[in-house]
Amino acid sequence: MENVHIIDHPLIQHKISMLRDKHTGTAEFRALIEEIAMLMAYEALRDLPLEEIEVETPIETCMTPVIAGKKLAVVPILRAGLGMVNGILALVPTAKVGHIGLYRDETTHEPHEYYCKLPSPIEQRTIVVTDPMLATGGSAEAAVDFIKQHGGKNIKFMCIIAAPEGLARLQKAHPDVQIYVGHLDRCLNSDAYICPGLGDAGDRIFGTK
Ligand code: PRP
Ligand code: URA
Repeated sequence: MENVHIIDHPLIQHKISMLRDKHTGTAEFRALIEEIAMLMAYEALRDLPLEEIEVETPIETCMTPVIAGKKLAVVPILRAGLGMVNGILALVPTAKVGHIGLYRDETTHEPHEYYCKLPSPIEQRTIVVTDPMLATGGSAEAAVDFIKQHGGKNIKFMCIIAAPEGLARLQKAHPDVQIYVGHLDRCLNSDAYICPGLGDAGDRIFGTK
């Protein structure tokens, strides 16, 4: 599983445990999602391209690396992926943000697109797709399909909790995508919810239901 990175840092594991707790309220849940996304981005963005700039230190002038301009796009899958965006922007405030609107049909569990707006041009950018939950993998597969149709090439997918079923599906459909996972859970239940999971991520972030 060369393209799968399980980011099992103790800080992330601790925060995921807080997320799982059904007694964790909306404000804390939202903050935790953002913090975990920031910690995961630290690892996922290890290969961001750099460029040298000239800087005058108090001692002398030197060439020193900075993140190459306008190279990152964060693309949340609506709604729940939105919760991860600010955590990544805290590290790379100049990143562009695209949006892909998908919802899962409650019966078939297949994704349906209702919105897609990506930064243009997208070809040269590192693209980080965010969604806290990788369940059947249908939403992630469809989102990466859309991005590739628009010309995206260097695509990473970041989720907080994955089910083995979704991970296998995304890997099979898009073997070129680097996948970053906070925790790999046990399985899906008959409603395609992740077990033990954390419930419905969108509802818990936005306080709906
Ligand atoms: C949830 C979640 C993912 C998707 C994962 O979204 O945020 O996008 O389900 O499931 P999958 O891997 O089986 O496709 P949902 O469709 O509930 O929409 P929401 O974020 O608007 O609540
Ligand atoms: N979407 C969620 O928000 N949670 C799950 O467990 C599965 C899909």
